This record gives sequence, structure tokens and C-alpha cells, in this order.
Amino acid sequence: MTISQRRYHITTFGCQMNKADSERMAGVLEDMGFEWSEDPNHADVILYNTCTIRDNAEQKVYSYLGRQAKRKHEQPDLTLIVAGCVAQQEGEALLRRVPELDLVMGPQHANRLKDLLESVFAGSQVVATEPVHIIEDITQPRRDSKVTAWVNVIYGCNERCTYCVVPNVRGVEQSRTPAAIRAEIEELGRQGYKEITLLGQNIDAYGRDLPGVTSEGRHLYNFTDLLYYVHDVPGIERIRFATSHPRYFTERLIQACAELPKVCEHFHIPFQSGDNEVLKAMARGYTHQKYRRIIDTIRQYMPDASISADAIVGFPTETEAQFENTLKLVEDIGFDQLNTAAYSPRPGTPAALWPNQLSEEIKSDRLQRLNHLVGIKAAERSQRYFGRIEEVLVEDQNSKDKTQVMGRTAGNRLTFFTGDINQLKGQLVKIKITEVRAFSLTGEPIQVSQAIPV
Ligand code: SAH
Ligand code: SF4
Ligand code: F3S
Repeated sequence: MTISQRRYHITTFGCQMNKADSERMAGVLEDMGFEWSEDPNHADVILYNTCTIRDNAEQKVYSYLGRQAKRKHEQPDLTLIVAGCVAQQEGEALLRRVPELDLVMGPQHANRLKDLLESVFAGSQVVATEPVHIIEDITQPRRDSKVTAWVNVIYGCNERCTYCVVPNVRGVEQSRTPAAIRAEIEELGRQGYKEITLLGQNIDAYGRDLPGVTSEGRHLYNFTDLLYYVHDVPGIERIRFATSHPRYFTERLIQACAELPKVCEHFHIPFQSGDNEVLKAMARGYTHQKYRRIIDTIRQYMPDASISADAIVGFPTETEAQFENTLKLVEDIGFDQLNTAAYSPRPGTPAALWPNQLSEEIKSDRLQRLNHLVGIKAAERSQRYFGRIEEVLVEDQNSKDKTQVMGRTAGNRLTFFTGDINQLKGQLVKIKITEVRAFSLTGEPIQVSQAIPV
């Protein structure tokens, strides 16, 4: 069999960072001559890019792996790779658990996939989990979308939230240089991409580890500087970013978002809990009052801004009254979207060892109550769109109704309308909103008045 006939499959779990890493690893594999296979059962190289943020995310991987490990006994030349955060957390232990694995590689090694695979093809079983300086990638990522793209700006996280595995598995903060980031965005603009999302686990930490970069005579130090530096790349119409940390969030960033027309008025700022004692136990470094002030300031500058966040219920020690403070915050702020989770004890994190863990019953009861409120508040927030004209960037077909296309408003609301994807993909279309639901909208394109020739 020649190399050009060989096929690869990637299944990605977890967050946007993992999606971005998968696209880069897919780029490396295509560069090596592999072709994409949608079905893992027809692939010669299978890569699972894994997540370990909660126990259920981790367990999912083992069931997928079990099936492919079995297949390997009938097809010994199958190459099995576990990448991402479970790989980093488990390392060698994964090989003991699944001896059929060929390669276990942490997230910092994504750009080294070619070298690692070459060792595998030379006959080695490889574990790559040592901390490394992340090298700039010269391979073109194979991106899932032709319209929107992820752009990493900072890898890793130096926070130590007491529930979180991310610093253990993603390593210390490493900012890319402004020049490398801008060059990637310019290339995306040339390729016809319309929207970028700048990514970092704690994007407000951007630049802290840079020596003080100079570009065009200006010193670039932080994320706000970076926004000013990349905001005018030709072809790019929308700029998004995630994730913001309330501890480091600044008014200057809010001003930049209000001032720069391409930066979308959408803020994803996880608060995790609405109770100060719990926030302290989580080591988050802010109070609920500070969080509320941030949202107030955003709304002073941009009254219509969308606000989304993440929250955890059932953190060890959380009392019913403390949980109700989270409900109160959600009630008061009115989030457009909230990702909620029941606390899951994670290996290697301080909170996992605390004696006062809550029962699964309490956690799931609180999660249900919170989710119920989130739905109500999101539906209320959606009402403001009714009858309005919104600009929607068309990304794809509506998978449930092929006569419709789907895209997002600047505020990140999923929006559907009747249209042909072949004509509309990548277009910004003005839509009159005719139906609103908690987390999505439906509308009609408005007639653009044509200049009548005389
Ligand atoms: N860097 C981001 C979030 C990264 S992880 C931040 O600081 O907010 C994404 C989300 O997963 C977190 O915001 C948190 O809500 C959730 N999460 C992280 N660890 C968790 C755990 N042990 N149990 C339940 N949810 C968790
Ligand atoms: Fe985890 Fe906290 Fe870092 Fe976010 S800021 S990735 S929650 S340690
Ligand atoms: Fe999961 Fe790793 Fe992201 S643990 S949430 S894939 S950083």
C-alpha cells in the first residue's frame, strides 16, 4: 500500500483549544500524505484528542479506545494515538491500560506530530508528555470551517483554581508573538475567512510572558494591545475572543471592544460561583461584587452586549444558601448563555482531596435547578431580538432542515433562515428576526434596496 492511500481519522473531545489543536494535527497528517476518513473503522491512523475536565469526559475516551484496541488485533498495522489532556494526565499509565496504543502525546506536542509518528513508524511505542516550548507551526491547519477560524494567542494557564486540571495538563502560559498571530490572521483573510476567534484559557494573561515586543515602534504587552494590533486585517469582518478571567479583566479592554467595529459585542466571562466564600475556596481571586461591576461597566459602554459564562455547582463545602447566591447572580445578570456543570473531583487538584464532598444527588438537583433558571433567563434575553434587524454570518446548512442556512449574530446567537448554502456561505446577511427561542433565532433576509439606474 502506498502512503497516499493511507487514511486518518480524528475524534475531538473538549474545548476550543482541542479543536484548534486537532485542526493543526490534521494539517500535519495531510502534509504527510494521509487522507481524511470520516469513519474511524476505515482509517489506518486513528487519533483521539481527549479532554479530562470532568470525569465523564475522560471515561468517554476509554470506551472509544476499547473498540479500536480490539480492532488492532485483526489489523496490526493500525496506528492508535491518544493526544490531548487525558494523554498528558495519564502518560505511561495509558500504555499499561491500553497496551495497543502506539503514541501518547500531550497538548504541547501537537505541532510535533510528524516527528513523533516517524518514531512510531520506525517501530517505537512513544510517550511525549514532557513540558516543551511550543514551536510555531509551519504546517497549514486543516480547518473544519471555511468561514470561521480559531487562532491561538496564548497556550497554558498559570492560575491554580482548586478544582481545575488545565494547568496540570496544558502547562505554563506561553504567548505567541503578535507578529506570528497577525501573520496567521492575514493568511486567513487572504483565504476568504470572515471571522476569527482568538483563543486562550485565560486570554487576559496574554503577553505576560513576552519580553516586551516592539512592532512598528509600539510596545505590545497585553491582550488589549493585541486587539488594536490585529483589528484591521483585510477580509476579516468579525473578531471574537475567549476565555476572559474576571480577576484580570480591564476597563481598557471594554473600551477597545466598544471602539473597534470588528470586535463582536460578546463577552464570555466565567464566574463559577455567585458566593464569595466558594469563590475563595476555588482560589478565583475576585468577589461576586467585582464580577457584577465588570458586567455593569460592559453594559454602560455597550448596552446590548451579549454575556455568557461558565458556572460550577456542588463544589465541596457549597451549602444550599451559597448555591442560592449563584442562582441570585444568574437571576440578576441575565446571561445570554451559561455553561453549567456539576463539580467533578479531578486527579491532582486540591479540591478533590477535601473531605466535604457533596453527594451526586445534591449536585444533580442543584444543576437541574440552575439549568431551569438559565433557560428562563436566556429566553428573556432572546426577546430583545424580536423584530430587529441583525447581521448574520452564514456558516453552514441547518442540519435539521436543509432548506435553511445557519449562522450567528454578532452577539453569538445561532440564527436560521431559508436560503441556499451554496450562494450564502461566508456572507454577512441582514436578517429580520421573526421567531425567538432561548438559545436560537429564526428570521428572514430583508430586501436590499437596489439603486435604480436612470
Ligand atoms: N479557563 C476558563 C475555563 C476552562 S475549563 C476559566 O478560567 O474560566 C471550562 C469550564 O469547565 C470551567 O469554566 C468550569 O466551569 C468547568 N470546570 C473546570 N473544572 C471542573 C471540574 N472539576 N468540575 C466541574 N466543572 C469544571
Ligand atoms: Fe482552570 Fe482556572 Fe486556569 Fe481557567 S483559569 S483554566 S478554571 S485553572
Ligand atoms: Fe478539556 Fe483540556 Fe480543554 S481538559 S476543556 S480539552 S484544556
